[in-house]
Amino acid sequence: MINEMKWWQKAVGYQIYPASFYDTNGDGVGDLLGIIAKLDYLQDLGIDLIWVCPFFKSPRDDNGYDISDYFSVDPVFGQTSDMKKLLDEAHKRNIKVIFDFVLNHTSDEHPWFIESRSNEDNPKRDFYIWRKGTIAKDGKRLPPNNWRGFFSDSAWAYDHLTDSYYMKIFSKKMPDLNWENKVVRNAIFEVAKFYLDLGVDGFRLDAIAHLARDTSFAQSTLPTESDGTVLDYKKFSNLPKMFDYLKEFKQEVLSKYDCVTVGEVGGGVSPEESLLYSGYDKGSINMVFNFDTAWENGAYASEGKTDDEIRTNVKNMKHNFRRWFEGCYQKSWLPLYWDNHDHPRVLSQYGSIHYREASAKMLAMVLLFMYGTPFIFNGEEIGMSNVVYENLDDFKDVSDQNFIKEGRHRFSSDLAMAKYLQRTSRTNGHAPMQWSDERNAGFTTGTPWLKMNPNYLLVNVKTQKEDPNSILNFYKKALKIRKKPEILHLVTQTRFELIDANHEDIFSYHHFAGNEGLLVIANFRDYEVKFTTEHLKDIKEVLLANYDDLIINETTIELPPFGAVLLKVSK
Ligand code: NOJ
Repeated sequence: MINEMKWWQKAVGYQIYPASFYDTNGDGVGDLLGIIAKLDYLQDLGIDLIWVCPFFKSPRDDNGYDISDYFSVDPVFGQTSDMKKLLDEAHKRNIKVIFDFVLNHTSDEHPWFIESRSNEDNPKRDFYIWRKGTIAKDGKRLPPNNWRGFFSDSAWAYDHLTDSYYMKIFSKKMPDLNWENKVVRNAIFEVAKFYLDLGVDGFRLDAIAHLARDTSFAQSTLPTESDGTVLDYKKFSNLPKMFDYLKEFKQEVLSKYDCVTVGEVGGGVSPEESLLYSGYDKGSINMVFNFDTAWENGAYASEGKTDDEIRTNVKNMKHNFRRWFEGCYQKSWLPLYWDNHDHPRVLSQYGSIHYREASAKMLAMVLLFMYGTPFIFNGEEIGMSNVVYENLDDFKDVSDQNFIKEGRHRFSSDLAMAKYLQRTSRTNGHAPMQWSDERNAGFTTGTPWLKMNPNYLLVNVKTQKEDPNSILNFYKKALKIRKKPEILHLVTQTRFELIDANHEDIFSYHHFAGNEGLLVIANFRDYEVKFTTEHLKDIKEVLLANYDDLIINETTIELPPFGAVLLKVSK
């Protein structure tokens, strides 16, 4: 059975945020040679697939998600030839590579946009989405409609050159491409072919849910924010035409290569709807990332709350994992993740810095044995946690800066806002990788582009490599176990079943093939919890545990704070 699986169904993925991974030339920003330098580390960890966030030529308004030339590497990340070098060096180590393909928008400095904005008759005008605005009674200029984008402002930006607005659901330096235009689609397909011919093994498809819009551009009738705009997701997400575009992409490009595609679809899609994207029968891509298990501690609604008031909703999280499993089992494949560059660090969200080791290991056990392809975000394997910036300027991310500009009045002080961002901001995931306890965590010999988390003296790769009980070595062990054929079979082929699904503190599940099974029991709380299940009578082997001497009495296990076990059981 396992042999029939695709390579990407058996793989363990690792996401790299290049700017923050490893800097080889001392400019304070990570680079492609830095990734190459760490491939042995990744191979040793047990990684067989890396997803590399964008490193193409870009003004870096959104750290590379704003591309001005798809065919060149941005000088800050190295030379264009490093792209091929990275693929070759990774392949030598049996590591596949997927690029982050940004196809919903370009940079406003992309030559297509420069031409498009130059005048209304330019042949590239229709590469982007242009509309006229209106003038309010008070003489104020207004955008074509009240749609809001994802970065805390209007989905439109004004351009004085032609007195028009262009659509941009992210920053104003990221104009949306007009996928209605077949010339645009062909141009994007050519980019994909270029990467695939170079040897890339697939793509993480950025923001694909948004390729089609409601082209009536009608006002949203939802209640607006104080600036008169509203994030009415449905106006530009998961619309029927988008699925046609993906079909075309598959027919004209993807089907001709042995590649994998993981689409970022985010919220607003049910598991059943996701089959339109990635169902084995009618889907055009291989997997979709959903966001349904990412915010289960209510961090977003935590303005004014203290850290003690934040609590992970374990029950909800379990139900969401189960919902996705039930919707997709044997119908499509799932990517699994706790963390990525758009989120705070999972250790701070669902674990605890006070129980760093135990909680990081517990999170590893829960994620790595579920149905799907796991993606570990760089730093997760050593238990990196959120930053502690108190100065709002340190949250350099463009969406954070927009949020700060727009939302300052909602907080009692800048410090209160900084505290909120410490909990929610994606800058948390951007802070540089902690390689050692040397200056700047060994990330750079220069000045890091983003302040290091000072905890690198304690939390770093070098120290953990030397400690057999470290989080890093735990990940290594866990991945080795996952790759054993009988375990991989259980994890990827058999049903994932929750045990005591409504338990408020414990995340427990099993997989069974006949009488042989795999059982995970994990405590998400910073206090001891006892858990009872009949399966404890059938223990054959303790495969992994994050505490020595766990107490098991017949059918009850006493789990210390964030305690967890992975057990082989036999009925
Ligand atoms: C999703 C990416 O993950 C995020 O980092 C980026 O800001 C937006 N798409 C826009 O490309």
